[in-house]
Amino acid sequence: MPNNKEKILHILQESGSFISGEDICRRLGISRTAVWKNVHALMDEGYEIESISNRGYRLCSSPDTLNAEAVLPYLHTNALGHALRFYRTIDSTNTEAKRRAAEGDAHGTVYVAEEQTRGKGRLGRQWVSPPGEGLWFTVLLRPDCIPAQTAGLTLVTGLAVCQTIRELCGIDARIKWPNDIVLGSKKLCGILLEMSAEENHVDYVIAGIGINVNIGDFPEEIAYKATSLRLACGHSLCRGELLAAFLNIYEPLLQLYTENRTEEILVPYRELCISLGRQVSTQRPQGLLTGTAVDITHSGELVVRTPTGEEETIFTGEVSVQGIYDRPEEKQA
Ligand code: BTN
Repeated sequence: MPNNKEKILHILQESGSFISGEDICRRLGISRTAVWKNVHALMDEGYEIESISNRGYRLCSSPDTLNAEAVLPYLHTNALGHALRFYRTIDSTNTEAKRRAAEGDAHGTVYVAEEQTRGKGRLGRQWVSPPGEGLWFTVLLRPDCIPAQTAGLTLVTGLAVCQTIRELCGIDARIKWPNDIVLGSKKLCGILLEMSAEENHVDYVIAGIGINVNIGDFPEEIAYKATSLRLACGHSLCRGELLAAFLNIYEPLLQLYTENRTEEILVPYRELCISLGRQVSTQRPQGLLTGTAVDITHSGELVVRTPTGEEETIFTGEVSVQGIYDRPEEKQA
C-alpha cells in the first residue's frame, strides 16, 4: 500500500498543474500540516515542487532516483513489483535474486540496483553497469512448469522489454533472437535468464535485465555496438516509470505463457524479431552453421535454412546476425 507521501506524489503527477492543499487533504483524509510535511519530504528527495498561496502545489520536476516513489505511481500490476528491493551498489541483481529466492522471496519480487560491481552478461561475460544511467534489475519468477518449458520465458521477456521501449520512447526497437533488444545495428538492452530446478520442477527463474537508459557516452571498445534510449530519443527518461511500464506489460505476457497461448506470444515476437529473414551464423561443435533465419518454433528455437535448403534449429548460444553489432572495419570489407 502506498503511504501518504507516495499518494501525494501520485496526485501531483496526475494533476500536471496546480492542485490546492485543501483538495489533497480532502482526497487523502489528512490534515494540511501532514500534506505540507510530506511535500517538504518530497522536496528533500529532489522533487521540485512549486508552492503558491491560493493556488496550491505543482510538481515541476522529479529526480531520477530509483525508489518506490518513482515506480509505484505508474505500476498497475497484480503481483509483479509489489515487493521491490532497491540497492545503491550490489554485486549483481541476479546474484542477489538467487540469494533471496533461496530465503523464500515471493514470485514477482524485483531487485533494482543503481550500480552493479559484478554485473553478469550472457555466456559468462561481464555486464558493465555504471551508476545512475542504466536500469539494472532482476525479476524473480516462480512459474509452475518443468525445466524444458522455460525457453518460452526467454522470448516473453525480450518481447516485453521491446514493446515497453517502443511504447514509451516511440522508437523502432527490435529483438535480436533470443532476447537482445537493438536499435538499428546497436544494442539497447541485454537479458540474462537463470534458473534453479530439479528434474521435473522449476523452483525459480530469475530474469535479469540491463537497459542502457540515460548513458551519453560508451567506452570506445563498445561504442560501435551499444546505444542508449537517451541517445535514441534525444532526451533523458525516468527510470522508475520505465521499470513500472515494463512490469505492466510483462505481467499479461507472462499470463499468456502460463496459459500456453504460445502463438499469441510468437505472432508479435516474430514481427519484432530482426533476425528473421537475415543471414545468421553460429559456431556449433560440428562446425559453423550459416544460413537464413526463417522462423521461431513453439519451443523458442531459431530455424535456419542453410544454402542447401535444409532447415536446422538453434536453441542456444551466440548467433551473429549480418549487419548487427558489426565492427566498423567489417562494414567496409
Ligand atoms: C547480455 O549479455 O546481453 C545479458 C546482460 C544482462 C544484464 C543484466 S543487468 C541486471 C541483471 N544483473 C546481472 O548481473 N545481469 C543482468
